Amino acid sequence: MEFSIKQCSPEKHVGSAKLKNGCVLVGVFDSGKLTDAAQILDKAAQHYISEIIARGDMTGKAASTLLLHNVPNIASDRVLLLGLGKRPELDARQYIDCMRAAMRALQGSNAKDAVLYLTDITVKGRDSAWCLSQAVIASYESQYRSDQLKSKADKSKQVLRKIQFGLLNEKPSAALETAVSEAVAIAQGMALAKDLGNLPGNVCTPTYLAKQAITLGKTHKTIKTTILDEKDMQKLGMGSLLSVTRGSAEPAKLITMEYHGADKKQKPVVLVGKGITFDSGGISLKPGAEMDEMKYDMCGAASVFGTIQAIAELGLKLNVVGIIPSCENMPSSTATKPGDIVTSMSGQTIEILNTDAEGRLILCDALTYAAKFQPDTIIDIATLTGACIIALGHVASGLFSNQDKLAHELLAAGEQTQDRAWHMPLWEDYQSQLDSNFADMQNIGGRAGGSITAACFLARFTKEYRWAHLDIAGTAWKSGKDKGATGRPVPLLTRYLINRVAASK
Ligand code: BES
Ligand code: MN
Ligand code: ZN
Repeated sequence: MEFSIKQCSPEKHVGSAKLKNGCVLVGVFDSGKLTDAAQILDKAAQHYISEIIARGDMTGKAASTLLLHNVPNIASDRVLLLGLGKRPELDARQYIDCMRAAMRALQGSNAKDAVLYLTDITVKGRDSAWCLSQAVIASYESQYRSDQLKSKADKSKQVLRKIQFGLLNEKPSAALETAVSEAVAIAQGMALAKDLGNLPGNVCTPTYLAKQAITLGKTHKTIKTTILDEKDMQKLGMGSLLSVTRGSAEPAKLITMEYHGADKKQKPVVLVGKGITFDSGGISLKPGAEMDEMKYDMCGAASVFGTIQAIAELGLKLNVVGIIPSCENMPSSTATKPGDIVTSMSGQTIEILNTDAEGRLILCDALTYAAKFQPDTIIDIATLTGACIIALGHVASGLFSNQDKLAHELLAAGEQTQDRAWHMPLWEDYQSQLDSNFADMQNIGGRAGGSITAACFLARFTKEYRWAHLDIAGTAWKSGKDKGATGRPVPLLTRYLINRVAASK
């Protein structure tokens, strides 16, 4: 998809024949009130549009659409009316719903290009730059298909190639241009995260992820990829990570992608992503229902891939290191057993009471390993606990941090991108749930506060850093008819990193 921003006054546009094969999109508010762009079109078309509205065929209900053909005096073949609901009620969430509906309608039409008039729409608490970036993301999302493994690619028509954002009374500003290019990078990062997430466990193995990281390193000369194998991990003393892979025939990998966008001396932000390519639960085997969805247990890793690709595309001026511990969690006669005690790279010992609480076991060694990069900040991203879904559903990711300032920066980035997180407690009071009679800690803390005790476990390995943990168990993918990875939290993470660069200027 190609995007551009242009000042184009619709009445001059009209009759210019520039938009042959195209579509002009304008908004209509509840009870048929026209936006500025819609009024201009209506006037040129001698009230063709307002007559249709008077007839009741377009009420302006939020996210409703009406595609018109051959509107008189309009050069464009099509006009798409987009319902926006009640003007004072139009908020971020509703606007995004409207954009999704608009993109669906555009894709459903046969238009090859489209001009969208969006800057005359006011969304509560958001500016025009935000409105354009959400349109970009919605357009990518509506085009996304996971058809890599279908014998015939989904040929359902995807003719829309160009989107132009039309400005009525202003020249394209640097702010709008930046918003669009950032949104494109984010949308492509989300698509990469979705692709990796949606691939099945027999394709997307730790070795496959390692290959993807090498490819990313070849595409961008700012990225340096390093892969450690099990022998290397053994030497580093990663007894906890290795205990998870023991039951699997697939070799584990520890993937590092170093993105250099700033001076070498600048301490990096380290992103650690859980990369369990299939989580059967191990000897503490999961029940059968929906077990296929545990191929998504590497979505934290996928979001690190997506974010690193996005910032490399943008050439962000900061240093970021992505670390991905990756393996399968499988049962076998060599698998770790409940009650086994292992020694982590940090030296702390862990009694594994449930082999299904494996995410924390691979993350803790990766978090210790991160010290090597002298991080300024560490953020881990993991589909860590079912308990997080019970707490927050599929709307917010769980956010835990040992520093409130960092937590608030991440929350703000989530609000900005509507990829939201919710701040959860990480109080000492919960730590005792991890006490073990036989080791320094046990790997589960009981049913109560399951997502919190998981975070408390990780906190024991990140004491020396400014650190945050995102539990994305509820937000990384959708189940049921719309089963598929969401690409979250690539928007949150990328926006956080962009904001960091802006704040340091
Ligand atoms: N990957 C799962 C968490 C998960 C479950 C994410 C369902 C999304 C949907 C994780 O490894 C796990 O199995 N966690 C256990 C922890 C428990 C044994 C303490 C869980 O949440 O049940
Ligand atoms: Mn598990
Ligand atoms: Zn898991």
